[in-house]
Amino acid sequence: MKRILFLVMAAAIALGGQAQEKKSPSPEYPLMVTFTAQQDHENMMKQLGITVLRPGPSGNESDPNHANYDETLANPCPELPEVLTTKKGKKVTTPEMWWEVRRPEIVEEFEREVYGRLPARIPEVTWTVKTTDREFVGWTPVIAKQLVGRVDNSAYPLIDVEIDMMLVVPANARGPVPVLMMFGRPSFPAPAQPSSEDLEKLNEAFRAMMIAHDPSMKEIFDRYPAYTPITRAAMPNPFAPRGQAEPSPTEQLLAAGWGYATIDPNSIQTDNGAGITRGIIGLVNKGQPRKPEDWGALRAWAWGAARGLDYLETDPLVDAKKVGIEGVSRYGKAALVTLAFEPRFAMGLIGSSGKGGVTLHRRNFGEAVESLTGGEYYWMAGNYMKYGAEEASFGRKTGCDLPIDSHQLLALCAPRLAFISYGIPEKGDAKWLDQQGSWMATIAAGTVYKLLGARDLGVSNNYMTEKMPPVNTGLLDGELAWRQHDGGHTDAPNFKHFIPWALKFLK
Ligand code: GCU
Repeated sequence: MKRILFLVMAAAIALGGQAQEKKSPSPEYPLMVTFTAQQDHENMMKQLGITVLRPGPSGNESDPNHANYDETLANPCPELPEVLTTKKGKKVTTPEMWWEVRRPEIVEEFEREVYGRLPARIPEVTWTVKTTDREFVGWTPVIAKQLVGRVDNSAYPLIDVEIDMMLVVPANARGPVPVLMMFGRPSFPAPAQPSSEDLEKLNEAFRAMMIAHDPSMKEIFDRYPAYTPITRAAMPNPFAPRGQAEPSPTEQLLAAGWGYATIDPNSIQTDNGAGITRGIIGLVNKGQPRKPEDWGALRAWAWGAARGLDYLETDPLVDAKKVGIEGVSRYGKAALVTLAFEPRFAMGLIGSSGKGGVTLHRRNFGEAVESLTGGEYYWMAGNYMKYGAEEASFGRKTGCDLPIDSHQLLALCAPRLAFISYGIPEKGDAKWLDQQGSWMATIAAGTVYKLLGARDLGVSNNYMTEKMPPVNTGLLDGELAWRQHDGGHTDAPNFKHFIPWALKFLK
């Protein structure tokens, strides 16, 4: 007996070995590298010739190494790179010069130094509708479509990438509707529940199954003859008084006649450094670590959103010319990167995006360049790490050495609709995010909106002197808009301003 067991085990090991063999190095399918985040981080430092990085500051103000929160120290290099001057020093005075010369220069520098380049060849994504459900969100009948975008992995079958997205549109719309795509976890808003008849059938089948599985169950069911183990999910009662609570952002969108889509960033690229040899980045790199100019997670999430938009363009329920992108915090960064690089998105709601988002890299306040070159490095291109280097073959660099800054990223969105949203530190939209740095970038980006015939915040473009408006005072007259609400780390309180603002321009 023992011997037989041993043989079976040996065979299993041999088979396992064979499976391994398939994955072993061959020019076609190189073995997938599985670094820890720290190993991957060190690998990138080595590729760049960096020996010492400055550590990122702590967000906790009582720590000795806490981030700077002293406004007098926040602008070590106050002069921003000129958004409307070309690399050759020429003033950009016409839209043609912007589109043909200056904008491509800025794109190039953001790709090379900050977010990374899209690979030359990225495999195709094939979308399928997995489930279509008719539901109710509050009073609004909706159609919810669960979608999967499968990335062709024939070039490296060891990695699967399936993008998860949920599209929810009002069922009674007269024509195609605007859609706000949001980075987040897709779920059915209110799955349709079986009718009483169907529920009874389900319960009968369930009872029979339980008894077949364990005959002693019969006695229990006999004791409670009216009991139904499967019940309907409790649905929110649309008649229930709401009190002070305002409708959720998705209810507001539906009430305005819009649809929304939720796209899962993690199904595109996982949110950690160890995952960088997997996901879409890993698939294209055949499981190998990145090179310094390769894309980071933010660019990958933005790429996934653009693929989601590819699907929306094929769906007759959607007005694909009126699709926006939304996100908060790291996904606020991703939403800005999406809007900047993908001109088919008509609008963006950029929530509490902080450093790597709207906030200036040059600012020394809260989250630092050194945060983005430390634990958050995989959001960025490897090259970005140079700006956190204390000792390196190329010397020392800081955020002040970046050839571009975030006002120029925002300018790439012009003249399309961009709504910059923040909350307040007192309610949890921490000082870490540096609202003031985002305000300055938004002010500075305005010149490009104006050059292209659109409107900016309606104040001057002097980013050193313009004062941030009081909380709850929106500057919403232009295609570029700003509003700091009095809530926390969310953009939900700004939806009731965002929707009418966007509708005014989308007409
Ligand atoms: C951290 C990080 C921020 C990010 C935030 C979040 O605070 O430093 O960059 O925006 O997490 O996404 O919640």
